[in-house]
Amino acid sequence: MKAIRSLYAVTTLLLATSSILAGADNATMERGAKVYKGYCSTCHQANGQGLSTIYPPLAKSDWLKNQPKEKVIEVVVFGMKGPITVNGKKYNGVMNPLPTTYKDEDIAAVITYVYNSWSNSGTVVTADDVRKVKASKKGKK
Ligand code: HEC
Repeated sequence: MKAIRSLYAVTTLLLATSSILAGADNATMERGAKVYKGYCSTCHQANGQGLSTIYPPLAKSDWLKNQPKEKVIEVVVFGMKGPITVNGKKYNGVMNPLPTTYKDEDIAAVITYVYNSWSNSGTVVTADDVRKVKASKKGKK
C-alpha cells in the first residue's frame, strides 16, 4: 500500500513537472479548450486542422510558428482579413474579432491552448500580454 502511495506521489509530481515544463497549467488549458470548442472550432475545426481553402489550420501552422505572440493576440482580438499563406496554402478570407464578452483571461487561455495543442510551439500567453496588445493598438484601428 505504501509503495502504491509513493508511486502515486511520484507520478503526480512527474505530471506536475511536465506541465510546468510544457508551460501551460491545467486550469488554463481547460479554460482555453472551452473557449476553443465554443468559438474557434466552428471554423478552424475540432483538431485545428482547418477547412478546405476557407479556414486555415492552427495545427502545426507555420504562420502561427513564425509570428510573435503579440501578432496572434492581435488577430484574435481585432480579427484579420486579406491574403495569407499557411503551410504553403493560400487563404483570403475574413476572421472577425472575438466577441467582447470574452475576458482577457479567456483570450490568453484560448491562445495558450492553441499553442499547446497539436504539436504547436508550447508558447504561453498571459492576460497581461493581452492587455498590453490591446493598449498598444488603442486608437490605431
Ligand atoms: C468565423 C470563422 C472563424 C472563427 C470563429 C475563428 N477564426 Fe481564426 N481565421 C479565420 C479565417 C477565415 C482566417 C484567415 C483570414 C485571412 O484569410 O486573412 C483565420 C486566421 C486565423 C489565424 C492565422 C492563420 C493560421 O491559421 O495560423 C489564427 C492564429 C487564428 N485564425 C486563430 C483563431 C482562434 C484562436 C480563434 C478562436 C478564438 C479563431 N481563430 C476563430 C476564421 C475564423
